[in-house]
Amino acid sequence: MSKQFDVIVIGGGPGGYIAAIRAAQLGFSTACIDAWTNDKGGPALGGTCTNVGCIPSKALLQSSEHYEHAGHAFADHGIDVKGLGLNLEKMLGRKNTIVKQNNDGIVFLFKKNKVTSFLGLGSFVKAVDGGYEIKVAGKTEETIVGKHIIVATGSNARALPGTPFDEQLILSNDGALAMTEVPKKLGVIGAGVIGLEMGSVWRRLGAEVTVLEALPAFLGAVDEQIAKEAGKLFAKQGLSINLGVKIGDISASKKDVTVSYTDDKGNAQTGVFDKLIVSIGRTPNTNGLNVEGVGLKLDERGFVAVDGDCKTNLPNVWAIGDVVRGPMLAHKAEEEGVAVAERIAGQHGHVNFNTIPWVIYTSPEIAWVGRTEQQLKADGVAYKAGTFPFMANGRARALGDTSGMVKFLADAKTDEILGVHIVGPMASELISEAVVAMEFRASAEDIARICHAHPSLSEATKEAALAVDKRSLNF
Ligand code: FAD
Ligand code: NAI
Repeated sequence: MSKQFDVIVIGGGPGGYIAAIRAAQLGFSTACIDAWTNDKGGPALGGTCTNVGCIPSKALLQSSEHYEHAGHAFADHGIDVKGLGLNLEKMLGRKNTIVKQNNDGIVFLFKKNKVTSFLGLGSFVKAVDGGYEIKVAGKTEETIVGKHIIVATGSNARALPGTPFDEQLILSNDGALAMTEVPKKLGVIGAGVIGLEMGSVWRRLGAEVTVLEALPAFLGAVDEQIAKEAGKLFAKQGLSINLGVKIGDISASKKDVTVSYTDDKGNAQTGVFDKLIVSIGRTPNTNGLNVEGVGLKLDERGFVAVDGDCKTNLPNVWAIGDVVRGPMLAHKAEEEGVAVAERIAGQHGHVNFNTIPWVIYTSPEIAWVGRTEQQLKADGVAYKAGTFPFMANGRARALGDTSGMVKFLADAKTDEILGVHIVGPMASELISEAVVAMEFRASAEDIARICHAHPSLSEATKEAALAVDKRSLNF
């Protein structure tokens, strides 16, 4: 007889593994099926985020930033670095170790919470009395039954039509995180989050980076003022970002890739690169799930169709994370995972889509929550804005990183915070205060009246809130 579970989660990324842990905490017998394997053929839990996404990219961003600082910024602090060298093999090894620590951490958490882990590809077989039969195809094949199924199968990098990834010359995020030599010339198609983060890593390590972006505006989802400031800073660093391009033919020889494109003025251009990263978005991963077999509905873009509560068209089948609508972010996937487990338990799991923070981990970092100035204008909302530059912040000066600003947008009448946008040092950490404030529907005045430690970068947040009422103290 097949093993029976209250909850079976398909996919062990940040959405799936967190959903499994929360379901187990709530007293459900829970299984999590994940297909990702390490180089020894064992489980590598954590999905895209842990294996080829958030974690390894941040490890390389940190290492490459240290390298760049040692080469330039340390001199300003009176620290002379002689004989600076790059040991890329060691840098990549460190990244791999961090990935493995995270993989192993999830194995430990599954044991601690009594989640049964299956290594293999999960697929629907059929609906049965009391749930669904799920096939696990790993080294062996077995069938298990779950009363509730949570689909958390994530996403894959989108290739350009006719240009598949070979991960040698034409790279997705997988290859972009594993180059064993710094390319002399690196091409990047797509100036989105991956393009900017990966472009930054390899530029800092010595590559000449050319980014080719189809849209005429830089970082269209980001507040315009912040995007403009970031664009200036990236250009100063030597990241060549070309907007409004139209990609034509791409051909790879044994040693390089040639990209034909037209620039924003309509002129034909050719770029020859040692490596090419294609980062033009990601597609939901429903491969091998046998959605047709059970009639699980997908939307017109291939995502599993869900309602606001992550319910699919099938009873007791839920879907979360990158495989459903909404931002493709690890923390969004996690929140949905917790909320679904709690809904299965009859509780009122909740995800507030208005307060999901975004961070781009470049230097300076870019982080935001809530609406941008252009969105407020489009929505016809009357608002007040306040900004404060890090240049006027004592801690930023002490750090030697005074680029960027904090920007507050608040309702003109009620002063409720509608959006907070940061480009600058530690924006990824600073944004949390804004998220908490917005979650509690605070006003800009609330933040302006809270005592912030001195000297700290967070004082720039307070000052930007004061600036909403035109009473900044230090600028
Ligand atoms: P995934 O993490 O994709 O996990 C899905 C899992 O399901 C995988 O392990 C897959 O092998 C498995 N699977 C798929 N199909 C099956 C099946 N049929 N049976 C069994 N297992 C299956 N987000 C952030 O918030 N912050 C960041 O800094 C960040 N950096 C990123 C950097 C890069 C380079 C990339 C590519 C992404 C980054 N993201 C970041 C996005 C983040 O990785 C995703 O939003 C997140 O991983 C989505 O989680 P998920 O659980 O939905 O899916
Ligand atoms: P993206 O959606 O962030 O950016 C893709 C860019 O490619 C866009 O600017 C788009 O206009 C451009 N583009 C699309 N087609 C093109 C074409 N044919 N020619 C030229 N440009 C083209 O996607 P990206 O960078 O691939 O990342 C995928 C997702 O992964 C992100 O949207 C994000 O959700 C997640 N992610 C999150 C990170 C974080 O939170 N720090 C880091 C990395 C990824």
